[in-house]
Amino acid sequence: MICLGIESSAHTFGISIVSDSDGKCNILANERHSVTTKEGGLIPRELAVHHQEYAKPILESALKKAGVKLEDIDVISFSQGPGIAPALQAGAITARVLALKYGKPLLGVNHCVGHIEIGKALSGSRDPIVVYVSGANTQIIGYEAGKYRVYGETLDIGLGNLLDSFGRALGMGFPAGPTLDKIYFEKKNYVPLPYTVKGMDLAFAGLQTAAEQKIGKVPKEDLVYSLLHNAFAMVTEVSERALAHTEKTGLLLTGGVAASKALREMLQRMCDARGCKFFVPPFEACVDSGLLPAWLGLIEHKAGVRMKLEDTAVNQRQRTDQVQVTWA
Ligand SMILES: [Fe+2]
Repeated sequence: MICLGIESSAHTFGISIVSDSDGKCNILANERHSVTTKEGGLIPRELAVHHQEYAKPILESALKKAGVKLEDIDVISFSQGPGIAPALQAGAITARVLALKYGKPLLGVNHCVGHIEIGKALSGSRDPIVVYVSGANTQIIGYEAGKYRVYGETLDIGLGNLLDSFGRALGMGFPAGPTLDKIYFEKKNYVPLPYTVKGMDLAFAGLQTAAEQKIGKVPKEDLVYSLLHNAFAMVTEVSERALAHTEKTGLLLTGGVAASKALREMLQRMCDARGCKFFVPPFEACVDSGLLPAWLGLIEHKAGVRMKLEDTAVNQRQRTDQVQVTWA
C-alpha cells in the first residue's frame, strides 16, 4: 500500500510518500520546506501563503523522487490538527483537491500521534514513554487501553516556543534552538532561575520571563546555559516519573526539540541510570514532515479507518488523547 501524506500544521509544508512491507515503513519520498525568519516569530497568515506557494513544487518533487504517479497512490492523508488554523487549512485543501480529483480515500490524522507512530516505526521502539517536544507541544505520553494517554504536559508554552522566544529576546533568528544548544555546551556558570513542575505537568512561561529580565544583567552565555538546564531537567524529571509509574522500559524522544544534543544527553543519562532503553528516531522523523501523516494515514487506513469529506475539517485543538487507537 502507498500513502501520500501532507503536513502543514506549523512552519513546515511537507509531502511524503511511504509504502509498507512486513509492517515496516519504506520512505519513497520526503520533501519539505520550512519558514525561517531573521527576526524570529511566525505570522499565521504568512504561513498559509508559504504553504500554498510550496504545495505544487513540493508535490511534483515528491512524486518524481518516489517514481510514482498520483494514480498509483492508495490513500491520501494530512495533518488535521493540532496546529495553526490557517496553516492547517492550506494542507487540508491540497489533500481534499487531490483526493477528489483522483478519487482516492482521504484521511485527516492527528499530528502528535503521527510523531509517535513514525518515531516508533523508524526507531524500533515498541511501547515507549514518548517525550514529544516541539515548538507548540510538550507532552509525556504512553499507550494504555486504546489511547495514547498524556501523563504530563506543559501548562503554558511549548518547550520549542520557550527556546525560540528567548532566542528572539537575545536577537537570534528563528529557529533559535541550534544556536542556544551550542552555547549550552560551553559550560557556563549557573544562574538561579525558576524550575516549575506541578505534579506531572510543566510550566515554562515563568522561566522565560525571569530569564528575559536578567538579559543585560548577567552574561548572555550563563543565562542560555541556565535556561536550557532548568527546562530540560524539568522534562527529564517528569519523564522519569512516567517511566517509574508505568514500568515501561523504553523512552522515545521526538518532535523538533529532539534535535537538541543537550536534551538528548540529559535523557540518555536518566535512562542509563534506570536501565531503560533510549530511542531517538532519525532527525527527519523527529521534525515536522509529511512522514507523520503519511505513515499514520497508511496504518489507520489498513486498520479500516475511513472518513467522509465532511469529517475532514481541520481541528486546531485536537488532542493526542482524543484519538482512538484502532491499529495497535
Ligand atoms: Fe510537530
